[in-house]
Amino acid sequence: MQFRLSEEHEMMRKMVRDFATKEVEPTASERDEQEIFDRSIFDKMGQLGLAGIPWPEELGGGGADFLSYVIAVEELSRVCASTGVTLSAHISLASWPIYHFGNPEQKEKYLRPLAEGKMLGAYGLTEPGSGSDAVGMKTTAVKDGDYYILNGSKIFITNGGDAEIYVVFAVTDPEKKHKGITAFIVEKGTPGFSFGKKEKKLGIRSSPTLEILFDQCRIHESQRLGNEGDGFKIAMMTLDGGRNGIAAQAVGIAQGALDHALAYAKERKQFGKPIGKLQAIQFKLADMATQIEAARLLTYQAAWRETVGLPYGKASAMAKCFAGDIAMKVTTEAVQIFGGYGYTREFPVERMMRDAKITQIYEGTNEIQRLVISNYLMKE
Ligand code: CAA
Repeated sequence: MQFRLSEEHEMMRKMVRDFATKEVEPTASERDEQEIFDRSIFDKMGQLGLAGIPWPEELGGGGADFLSYVIAVEELSRVCASTGVTLSAHISLASWPIYHFGNPEQKEKYLRPLAEGKMLGAYGLTEPGSGSDAVGMKTTAVKDGDYYILNGSKIFITNGGDAEIYVVFAVTDPEKKHKGITAFIVEKGTPGFSFGKKEKKLGIRSSPTLEILFDQCRIHESQRLGNEGDGFKIAMMTLDGGRNGIAAQAVGIAQGALDHALAYAKERKQFGKPIGKLQAIQFKLADMATQIEAARLLTYQAAWRETVGLPYGKASAMAKCFAGDIAMKVTTEAVQIFGGYGYTREFPVERMMRDAKITQIYEGTNEIQRLVISNYLMKE
């Protein structure tokens, strides 16, 4: 067993850290404040080869592994969680199902531009009445000759509005429950496909979260992903890996908060010495660092399992659940270390604390992760 990253992984970390420091961090607070999604950041990630890290070079990808991908999400999230989730939703939620379930034509038409960063991807599962209970979706897809007619709406769509490609799930046979759900690839600009409300959020405010609407939207059967009835399995398998992307985002947010808290603890003087010399602060810093390291190991392990072809659903749910919970704890402690200043927008730790909260909610709440983990335990 090796607990050292390879040279390639270290190079990925360095490359993304340099990029994040120079191109992402300087505008993170302003983008958060103004709720701006800056597409040029994603375009630059595409030019650096980050938009398709784990996909084969023949398909326009980076030919790297899932560990490289989670390192990239971690490093982006260390300075800006919104940018981290932009990449995570693009790779894990939109590109992953097309890579695994798309036919050669779909891979050429959709995966290649996604992998090259020429298009941005999104994923539509959640609906107003079906969040944790994903099978309860109401969006329908009715066959009409060579087309399906989609009607309904999806909410909380990360990259919504800005993405060109949407992997969405709809009911093709209500009698069959989860076996009557089918996946489709929908292109922005398709008649009958439009964008609804943009959410105003607590955190990840520079990542757009939109409602998407289908009104008599005709989708050609060549845009069906997999077979009719495969949709729920595709959705769940996609989330198995996606959750590890969120674990990486949580690790990155927590690390960013610790880095700021540590620097502040060395500088800020009270009672005649730096607060980092006070045991109350030292204990906090020690716990924060330990929790982050444990979360990182779970996350890297899940990514390694996916790379080598071992089952990773349980590992990924554990990583997401643990990392999300510690990101919330660590960022809250970081604000505490900064005291009154931490509560102001003068320092980024309050943004990190707001950003951390979503990692306990999306891609399955941490209550759902515990359900998924215990389901695996009962079956094993
Ligand atoms: N891989 C493959 N198949 C799976 C699977 C997996 N990980 N999980 C379930 N299935 C299959 C089961 O084997 C079963 O199939 P069979 O009947 O053929 O055996 C079928 O799916 C139904 O399984 P369950 O009975 O376990 O289904 P359930 O209705 O009890 O739901 C659940 C299970 C875990 C609660 C699931 O609904 C779930 O994950 N809910 C949370 C949804 C979620 O994460 N939403 C987030 C959306 S994305 C997002 O957050 C937005 C964003 O852009 C970031």
